[in-house]
Amino acid sequence: MAKNPSWVPYGIDATVPNAARMYDYWLDGAHNFAADRKLANKVQQIVPATRDAVRINRSFLRRVVLFMVHSGIRQFLDIGSGIPTVGNVHEIAQRADPECRIVYVDKEPVAVAHSELLLQDNDRAAVVQANVRDVEGVLDHPQTRRLVNFDQPIGLLMLWVLHFVPDSWDPVGVVARYRDRFAPGSYLAVSHVTADGNPTGHAEVNELYAKTPDPLYFRSHQEVLRLFTGFKLVEPGLVGSAFWRPSGSGDISGNAEINTGSYGGVGRKL
Ligand SMILES: C[S@@+](CC[C@H](N)C(=O)[O-])C[C@H]1O[C@@H](n2cnc3c(N)ncnc32)[C@H](O)[C@@H]1O
Repeated sequence: MAKNPSWVPYGIDATVPNAARMYDYWLDGAHNFAADRKLANKVQQIVPATRDAVRINRSFLRRVVLFMVHSGIRQFLDIGSGIPTVGNVHEIAQRADPECRIVYVDKEPVAVAHSELLLQDNDRAAVVQANVRDVEGVLDHPQTRRLVNFDQPIGLLMLWVLHFVPDSWDPVGVVARYRDRFAPGSYLAVSHVTADGNPTGHAEVNELYAKTPDPLYFRSHQEVLRLFTGFKLVEPGLVGSAFWRPSGSGDISGNAEINTGSYGGVGRKL
């Protein structure tokens, strides 16, 4: 068997593609394997604008982090944070206010190992390896306890992660368990792919992801809305994420399906 490069944590099977490393590839990151690139290219053959969809999601991330900082949030929990590339939450938030504290959470070992490396000199940011459904494991982790004050509002970021959570895990219930531990005035941001509008190739893309450890679950507007139970959506509500407070033409794709293929919204805990 071929030897993995030195940045690969022990025990990783480089022949099994996964969502974190395919996303890294689309973001022009360097922490992906041939199997990830192969499957990512197949997805791109079906949806040629995939990279644009990724770019629009990252623009949404930047806008919601800045919105939260401007709304007074100084501590963030970014779940399903991915492999760091450019425009990471700590860079955006700490550039706006160096006092911001960030806990990244991901289940994927390459994402966690690379985040640890990137954050080694940043004592206001850390990464926790955990599954989003392990709410206590995330919130009671020593790094979370070190960086997060639960008496103060928190910015919870769940961008492009809940569509990897099956209904059998009760995603609404998972989000509610985080919410219940947070102070009023906390914010939740979600982006989530949808097949509303019957976008090109979504069934084929579903089939491809079904062969990975990260099957994909497209959800309707109503289903994504339910994730915000106990939160009041801020304007403009739950919309195609490109249309959530775009700050320039670069935040919107020239491809209408990309603009509406993922819902984005931000809610404030009541
Ligand atoms: C598409 S990336 C999104 C990265 C980043 N949130 C963004 O929007 O740019 C999805 C990430 O969610 C992670 N993920 C998927 N299922 C997860 C789970 N059950 N628990 C924790 N992380 C998960 C994957 O490992 C991957 O890094």
